Amino acid sequence: TWTTGNVIEEQVTAIREQVGTKRAICGLSGGVDSAVAAALVHKAVGDQLTCVYVDHGLMRKGETEQVEKDFVAATGVQLKVVDAQERFLKALAGVSDPEAKRKIIGREFIRVFEQAQAEIVAEAGDAGEEVRFLVQGTLYPDVVESGGGTGTANIKSHHNVGGLPEDLEFELVEPLRQLFKDEVRMVGQELGLPEEIVQRQPFPGPGLGIRIVGEVTEERLDLLREADAIAREELTAAGLDAEIWQCPVVLLADVRSVGVQGDGRTYGHPIVLRPVSSEDAMTADWSRLPYDVLSRISTRITNEVDEVNRVVLDITSKPPGTIEWE
Ligand code: XMP
Repeated sequence: TWTTGNVIEEQVTAIREQVGTKRAICGLSGGVDSAVAAALVHKAVGDQLTCVYVDHGLMRKGETEQVEKDFVAATGVQLKVVDAQERFLKALAGVSDPEAKRKIIGREFIRVFEQAQAEIVAEAGDAGEEVRFLVQGTLYPDVVESGGGTGTANIKSHHNVGGLPEDLEFELVEPLRQLFKDEVRMVGQELGLPEEIVQRQPFPGPGLGIRIVGEVTEERLDLLREADAIAREELTAAGLDAEIWQCPVVLLADVRSVGVQGDGRTYGHPIVLRPVSSEDAMTADWSRLPYDVLSRISTRITNEVDEVNRVVLDITSKPPGTIEWE
């Protein structure tokens, strides 16, 4: 019979067999899949696993801390955090085009991750150990979609870490290959992961970088983080998290409108709320949120976030609109 306990036991045995006494690396994104995969591998082989978290500065309020503190506290995993905020901001300076932003964020992410990986390989090599495995949070639906094969990841190392082979080949460890998303959440819960990680709604890899319409700057990220935190807080308080698939909060950084606040005229930016309901993100409908919840979010955002003087609601389904704005 299927129980989370059985799944964990089975996977722990399989991981131990696969990894043996060698070492493994796992990239954490802040999302549920990589977190549960890492927790399972850590349960199986302990400190033979090193996790890497690239802080690109595009996460929402509290999310990096959830990985750095709560996830580590819950699992005891060895974590290498790379603070790459400056690097990402620099690479994104002056860029407004959505596809260009995505490409830049993806490219920088791979570079930073590979460099961290190469450093871990080099350090382990000094200790006479071999890093052979890369852990990935591949789920059953991903396996079916991509035709089923297991694989290896070939990582080119083009960095200034001396003495490494040109190409590092890793064997993949994919302990979630037989599971659906809800099962992954149950396994994560059983492993004692923080609720905020286990129940997290989808969040795009490029993060807030694709929720600022216009150039991404540190000030704009701070502003959007505040607005997003308020929206999430109110949706959670209203008990709507399970009902909503996700609710992107978008800053229209290149748009200003006239407003009035206190004793003066303002000329600020609009924030867009994009709550959607969906089964699989392929199609979506806009969520009919209660007016009082929308009202609280709007009042708080305009009162508490500098330079935002208007909150608008996106009532477009997908298609024709995508869930994200970029
Ligand atoms: P769209 O905007 O295409 O989004 O309707 C569908 C779902 O995918 C998420 N999304 C991404 N996830 N990397 C990701 O990991 C990405 O680049 C990306 N872009 C969109 C989006 O949040 C939604 O859940």
